[in-house]
Parts: sequence; structure tokens; C-alpha cells
Amino acid sequence: MKRLLTAIAFFLTGAVGLSALDGEGFKTGEDLFKRCIPCHGRYANEKPMGKDKDISRLSETEIASKLRAYALGRSEGAMAAQASLLNQERIAALSVYIANMHARYGEELFALRCSGCHGKDASKSAFGRSGIVAKLDEKEATKILRNYQNGSYAHGSTANTMKGRAIALSDQEVLELARYIDSLNK
Ligand code: HEC
Ligand code: HEC
Repeated sequence: MKRLLTAIAFFLTGAVGLSALDGEGFKTGEDLFKRCIPCHGRYANEKPMGKDKDISRLSETEIASKLRAYALGRSEGAMAAQASLLNQERIAALSVYIANMHARYGEELFALRCSGCHGKDASKSAFGRSGIVAKLDEKEATKILRNYQNGSYAHGSTANTMKGRAIALSDQEVLELARYIDSLNK
């Protein structure tokens, strides 16, 4: 019951701040989302059955309202089969999870693999050589990380250190990190 109330509270307030994010609601959403992975992908950004619908870019409110429409049977497509799964509590948990998973994974990845040199909120210059990563938007961060990977970006003699870190990242990790960096206060 507590979980239900928390989920509904999120649903109603549309609270998205990570610190305010309820761990258990997020976890429920994560479990429910396993049913969605075959079509939408682990990170919710694959094309479901070839349709150009990247649900990882939708806000929590948009996801909830689309899922509510499916739950009400306003669909003939693939999502109609999901309607029976979608009660209000589950819609709330799924929306919280889908809308926040990127910020959370990006934050975890950054804390684990980047913050040692760039600071907790990407607010430090690494070795006094790099710019402040938190100032970059998603596009800039993606481009720079790719360019470190292919060796075409460098401030100077410290570039190889960063190149090694960048090469160790998968495409999906670059995407998650860039989205996280974009989300930091500018
Ligand atoms: C069998 C494949 C399949 C599964 C499983 C599936 N989806 Fe979908 N989903 C689709 C397709 C295809 C669309 C595109 C709309 C359509 O044609 O029905 C879609 C559309 C959506 C949309 C609306 C996207 C938009 O921008 O309009 C949301 C939100 C969504 N799905 C969430 C989910 C969630 C959450 C789950 C798990 C509970 C899920 N889907 C499971 C195939 C699937
Ligand atoms: C061992 C320390 C270290 C770690 C760990 C590290 N970096 Fe760096 N980073 C640096 C240094 C040093 C530079 C400047 C390199 C140069 O000379 O070009 C840099 C530069 C950057 C830049 C370019 C900023 C600018 O000035 O334009 C970005 C973006 C960046 N790092 C992101 C990351 C990310 C994301 C991670 C985690 C996957 C990470 N770094 C991990 C040391 C590190």
C-alpha cells in the first residue's frame, strides 16, 4: 500500500528530481519494464517493431498519458496487447522508471568512471587541463567523447589518459553519459 501511495504521489505531482525519486517505485517500474524490453530495448530507445518511437525521450507525463490511452483500449496496434498490464499503479511506476532511467544510469556511470578526475558534478577541471564537463550539452559531450575515441580531440599531453577512458565506453554508455552531462545545471 505504501508503494501504491508513493507511486500515485509521483504520478500526481510529476516529481522527477532524482533525489526525490523513490527507490522502490523505480524498482517496481524496472521489474515491469522487463516486459517491454523485447520491443523497446533495454534502454527504451530502440524502434519497436520498426516504428520510429523512441520512448526514452518522452517525459514522465507524456509516457503516463500515452499508457493511459492504451489502457483505455484506444489502440489497435502492438500496445493493445499490453493494456491488461496497465493499471494506474503500474502506469505510474513505468513512467517514473522510463523517464528517469537515463539520468540514473548516467549518474552512476559518471560517479564510477569519471568523477575521480572531473569531480562529483563534472565541475572540476581534470588535472587542470580539461574544460568543465558540466557546461557541455548532450551534442557537444557526445561529439567530444567520440573524438577522444578516434584520437581527433586533445588539449595536450594529457589527451591519452582521456582517450583510454573514452575508448572503454560502449555507444550506449556514451549516450547515457552525454544525457547525464546535459542534465547538469549549467
Ligand atoms: C510487442 C512489442 C511491444 C511491447 C512488448 C511493448 N510495446 Fe510499446 N509500442 C510498441 C509499438 C509497435 C509502438 C508504436 C505504436 C503502435 O504502433 O502501437 C509502441 C508504443 C509505445 C508508446 C507510445 C510511444 C509514442 O510516442 O506514441 C509507449 C509509451 C510504450 N509503447 C510503452 C511501452 C511499455 C511501458 C511497455 C511494457 C509494459 C511496452 N510499450 C511494451 C510495441 C511494443
Ligand atoms: C584519469 C582521469 C580522467 C578520467 C577518469 C576521465 N577523464 Fe575526462 N579528461 C581527463 C583529462 C586529463 C582531460 C583533458 C585531456 C586533454 O588533454 O585533451 C579530459 C577531458 C575530458 C573532456 C573534454 C572537456 C573539454 O575540455 O573540452 C570530456 C568531455 C571528458 N573528459 C569526459 C569524461 C568522461 C565522460 C569520463 C568518464 C567516462 C572521463 N572524462 C573520465 C581526465 C580524465
